[in-house]
Amino acid sequence: MTQPFPQHAFLTGPTAPSGVECDAPDLIIEGELPADLNGVYFRNGPDPLYPPREGDEYHWFHGDGMIQRFEFSGGRVAWKNRWVRTEKYALERAAGRSLFGVLGNPMKSDPSVAGEHYNTANTHVVWHGNRLMALMEGTIAVELEPKTLATIGNFNYGGKINGPITAHPKFDHASGEMVFFGNQAKGPFSEFLRMNVADRDGNLIKDEMIEAPFPSFAHDFFVTEKYVVFPVYPLVFSLERAIAGGIPMAWEPERGAHFGVMPRAGSAADVTWHNMDPRWSFHMVNAWDEGDTIKVDVCASNATRFAPKLDGTMASADDGLSPVLRRWTIDVGGTTNTVSEEQLDDMPCEFPRTDDRFMTRAHRHAWLVGGADAQLMFNRLVHFDKLTGTRTLWGDDRYLLGEPVFAPRSASAPEGDGYVLMLAYDQSTALSQLLVFVATDIERGPVARALLPLRIPAGFHGTWVGA
Ligand SMILES: [Fe+2]
Repeated sequence: MTQPFPQHAFLTGPTAPSGVECDAPDLIIEGELPADLNGVYFRNGPDPLYPPREGDEYHWFHGDGMIQRFEFSGGRVAWKNRWVRTEKYALERAAGRSLFGVLGNPMKSDPSVAGEHYNTANTHVVWHGNRLMALMEGTIAVELEPKTLATIGNFNYGGKINGPITAHPKFDHASGEMVFFGNQAKGPFSEFLRMNVADRDGNLIKDEMIEAPFPSFAHDFFVTEKYVVFPVYPLVFSLERAIAGGIPMAWEPERGAHFGVMPRAGSAADVTWHNMDPRWSFHMVNAWDEGDTIKVDVCASNATRFAPKLDGTMASADDGLSPVLRRWTIDVGGTTNTVSEEQLDDMPCEFPRTDDRFMTRAHRHAWLVGGADAQLMFNRLVHFDKLTGTRTLWGDDRYLLGEPVFAPRSASAPEGDGYVLMLAYDQSTALSQLLVFVATDIERGPVARALLPLRIPAGFHGTWVGA
């Protein structure tokens, strides 16, 4: 018998746990599904199986990874969801209660899981090298069977990777390569970043260790055709401070932001560092080469409340907490190592995506969510057309919107020719819907809505795999 979940902002409302695994062969569709939308949309997000341990403060990022699988075929949508069977899930399910402290905190964990692998596998689900992989950024991947979502097991590239893998690998569709990195790659509080490349078949072909200016944490990074960029934001980890009883992680804006640039054809020895004023970002839109510069479109803020400052206070709204769309220019061929910035829009933004086939190359179209920014819940879908310089919006207060994911009409369709899929929470019915938009005409509203029989907890990232 499990216990009730406590009243916590991330355990109630749109993020409350669902508690169920389902198979729905044929969802009810309102509107008309496009006949050329065929493939599978996978999405990951936290869905805690058990309430946190007594006296432990919950965090959204701690919930057990639950994969949603929507298969589009012949005008129908079949839906399935399954928890990822991590070691954490298996141990806690056997015990019938939470054993790990929130975010793996050993001080709050049951002694029975001392030394056990903490993996939530709850952040992204990606397809590469004929493998479906659930990712969090704190550890290795978990491989899943793509039709049944059965957990195959941990995946670490044949034992070659034993540290964290980012939840935001980048895909170069020309080479078929997956480029990824790992934070604190030589253990907790380490300033080293690990950079890897897997070839189109999923074989590890590059493994580099980069020394950053200080131990930090970045959720995302940037890859172009020629370069890899490692952002180091001033969210600083300190082992000395932690041992002295202080906070392990602090927002130290005086340290500034730093960007390590490595040629993709080069090595850690070729990394150059480029600096700017303090910034914070969860997600970039895309990065590309332009002459001797690297351009990065990014949802970024000037400060974060992800950790307190050294004096124990939190950054204030005056410090610039709302992420807005900006373009950073790194002058790789220049004589100065500063990074310039241009603000592109003033609406708070998150969960930016492009047509994935153009990742690492100059893109035209981007989609993201914006508007009200309360605990990362947004109610506007936004489309930016970089060629025409236009921004279009859709949405009202009825829906809370998740990440928009682009599905091309076909593998050879031009950029942006296809659909945007988005899991939305309908607050008027307290149920979820999967919305389908024509990608370049979102103002029209969804052309089809697949109705879910329950509320899927608000989650993170997903992937379209065409038929
Ligand atoms: Fe993310």
